[in-house]
Amino acid sequence: MSVLCNVEGRLVPPDQAVVPVLDRGFLYGDSVYEVVRTYSGRPFELDRHLARMDKTALRIDLTLPPRAVIVRELQRTLEAAGNPESYVRIVITRGAGEFGLSPFLARGQNRLVLIVRPLVAPPEEQYERGLQMAIARTRRNPPQALDPALKTGNYLNNILALREAHEAGADDAILLDLAGRVTEGTTSNVFFVQRGVLVTPPLSLGLLEGVTRALFIEIARTQGLILREEPHGPEALAAADEVFMTSTLREAMPVTSLVFLESHGEQVRKVADGRPGPVAKRLRAAFREYVERTHLRR
Ligand code: PDD
Repeated sequence: MSVLCNVEGRLVPPDQAVVPVLDRGFLYGDSVYEVVRTYSGRPFELDRHLARMDKTALRIDLTLPPRAVIVRELQRTLEAAGNPESYVRIVITRGAGEFGLSPFLARGQNRLVLIVRPLVAPPEEQYERGLQMAIARTRRNPPQALDPALKTGNYLNNILALREAHEAGADDAILLDLAGRVTEGTTSNVFFVQRGVLVTPPLSLGLLEGVTRALFIEIARTQGLILREEPHGPEALAAADEVFMTSTLREAMPVTSLVFLESHGEQVRKVADGRPGPVAKRLRAAFREYVERTHLRR
């Protein structure tokens, strides 16, 4: 079991994994990334992650290495790390080139870095307790600025919100858009249940299209649930029958309380009776069956 990095094809332990200080990923967050996890040692939904990375790269005009190279290096690093289950971070920066802001200074010199770590999934006890999510004062950057649909290395918006949450003693943060509508968590998407209907914010508000979000929407529909993508304020979360967050690492994690930071002082509100609800549990079980069907049996 080990943490293993792959810097432009060289497999090295983290303390020897270095990139030049003139790398644009380091200087400007001028990079794209994906987080993938394995189930039974195999990367989960790699195609969807790589498709999202293609989309981001296209939008910021960053040329990626050929997909076959990314997949080959990923497999090689996973095998060498030898973890039972891994967390994988795929990072591609625009490289170094000449010093200066203009992306044209580095054209074509991208840099592929992979970080493979033993997977640390949330403990089951966390699913029983649920999360406390802060409604951050920091707003999600609008799609017309740095579009949150892009998974770039520039995560300061999310970092600022997470900092607020941790200062308030909450586990994580949910960000509102400039109009006060719920968008997403700092590294996860949000769903809630309102009178039996499953609701999640529409992509048009400005949020990342989570691979897990898409899967839960598909699974909810096959389960016969009514799913609506519609905008709501944070009051709808506080009034919901249940709230949960989805991501590669969390699958579907219940939210059992909310901290409103924006009003005068901090206001803590329980979600329903403050215990995880049945829909998140049922959908997570169906998700696990999907994992089993598609990734575990060959
Ligand atoms: N985060 N929203 C944001 C802002 C994210 O960074 C992520 C993923 C998600 C959920 O996406 P997915 O279901 O594809 O994991 C939503 C990863 C896990 C991370 O940065 O660690």
